[in-house]
Amino acid sequence: MNLETIAQAAYLVAALLFILALAGLSRHETAKTGNGFGIAGMVVALVATIALAVQREISALGVVLLIVAMVAGAAVGLQRARAVQMTGMPELIALLHSFVGLAAVLVGWNGYQEVEADPGGAEARGLDALGLAGIHSAEVFIGVFIGAVTFTGSIVAFLKLSARIKSSPLMLPGKNFLNLGALLVFVGLTVWFVADPHLWLLIVVTVVALALGLHLVASIGGGDMPVVVSMLNSYSGWAAAASGFLLENNLLIVTGALVGSSGAYLSYIMCKAMNRSFISVIAGGFGIEAGPARDTDYGEHREITVDGAAELLEDASSVIITPGYGMAVAQAQHGVAELTRRLRERGVQVRFGIHPVAGRLPGHMNVLLAEAKVPYDIVLEMDEINDDFADTDVVLVIGANDTVNPAAAEDPGSPIAGMPVLTVWEAKNVIVFKRSMSSGYAGVQNPLFYRENTAMLFGDAKQRVEDLIHALPAGATAAASASAR
Ligand code: TAP
Repeated sequence: MNLETIAQAAYLVAALLFILALAGLSRHETAKTGNGFGIAGMVVALVATIALAVQREISALGVVLLIVAMVAGAAVGLQRARAVQMTGMPELIALLHSFVGLAAVLVGWNGYQEVEADPGGAEARGLDALGLAGIHSAEVFIGVFIGAVTFTGSIVAFLKLSARIKSSPLMLPGKNFLNLGALLVFVGLTVWFVADPHLWLLIVVTVVALALGLHLVASIGGGDMPVVVSMLNSYSGWAAAASGFLLENNLLIVTGALVGSSGAYLSYIMCKAMNRSFISVIAGGFGIEAGPARDTDYGEHREITVDGAAELLEDASSVIITPGYGMAVAQAQHGVAELTRRLRERGVQVRFGIHPVAGRLPGHMNVLLAEAKVPYDIVLEMDEINDDFADTDVVLVIGANDTVNPAAAEDPGSPIAGMPVLTVWEAKNVIVFKRSMSSGYAGVQNPLFYRENTAMLFGDAKQRVEDLIHALPAGATAAASASAR
């Protein structure tokens, strides 16, 4: 068996490992194993690719460049992965997507240099004889387009998520027509390029795609960013798959398609969670005309002390905790887990209600709660718990805001109107842990804070949760001792 065949077999094994990784990552219990499969798949893929490069008699300079690139990439990646806080994960992911996009643009341009720009290029690669020269041109053009959209889109997403630019939407007049126009220009130019591959066409499509990526993401408002991040994830997969065709690398095609389709499916789930139209997102029109945030006078809010909150919990027999981004910022998950343990010891039924876009990345809250060893069976999805709030004594809203905003359900004029939320206000008492009355990521006021059954417990969530643990006397609750009697 020659090395080429062995490498292709290794690619197949790596592809299977990547599929197992995705399957593993879909559940908490198996996520770690899934990660292991992913790492193993990547090692197999790298070894096979290097072996293939050596077999194809790569130049000495090529080997040096390969080693330098790998060592530099691995060092930066390792350092960033060690240093990144969970709250900084989405922007890191956005930045990594931008690299995939840039790589796809460079691979596309390289493909053009090797074939279309070289008079004997198509013949040398046997493309002419097979009548595949047009297909190659289409691959170049599509790869560059998707890559460039992903590149600038991801950079804007990175800037917005890291608060380096404002997250409010850019509202150019006729923004949907601009996006649609860019797509039509792309389709027209692709046909032209396939028929007659001029350099200027490639330059124009690169510029149009860079501008489209920039505009697509800039025109998305705060609350819709999760959909954009998962769409960019999907685009980066398709960009990698396009590069795979150009580089004739089957594994890159398979892996790109896996990332592209799983990212698209994640976007679909996100769209459902956010009540947004998947088709309008896919079409690039985003069709979402967010109204401006208004300043409404909801009256006075009520504050509660730590002792007051402890008293409410002492009398409670059922508690639901709805964590949000503030729990991640404060790193309050360990305190929350300890509070949960104490309450459960006292006979209180404690459950968690997790909104699909709570925090800043899919599954953000689940990861934090798992890290703090909160039992999985009491961590419920929004749909599983929303009917139970009405029968709940106390809801603890820990650093959540947009995901518990009643305006989404009750105010059709709200910028987050229609987004399903945790209906915490139906509970007997709601205690909100946050530092001030300021709005959440979407920049929308929250009428929950002014409801009669809501009380604000101001301060850093970690500190306040710890104070509450100390204020809570040990022993059975009133409810538990009553049922024991
Ligand atoms: P947010 O609406 O972002 O609100 C978080 C709240 O936490 C803020 O109002 C803030 O209020 C409070 N907070 C911050 N630091 C705190 C601290 N140290 N201690 C206590 N409170 C603190 O959170 P959410 O309800 O989780 O909603 C998520 C939002 O992010 C949604 O709009 C969603 O669309 C968006 N988003 C989600 C994702 C994904 S995939 N999950 C990705 C991008 C964007 P104070 O400043 O007053 O403390």
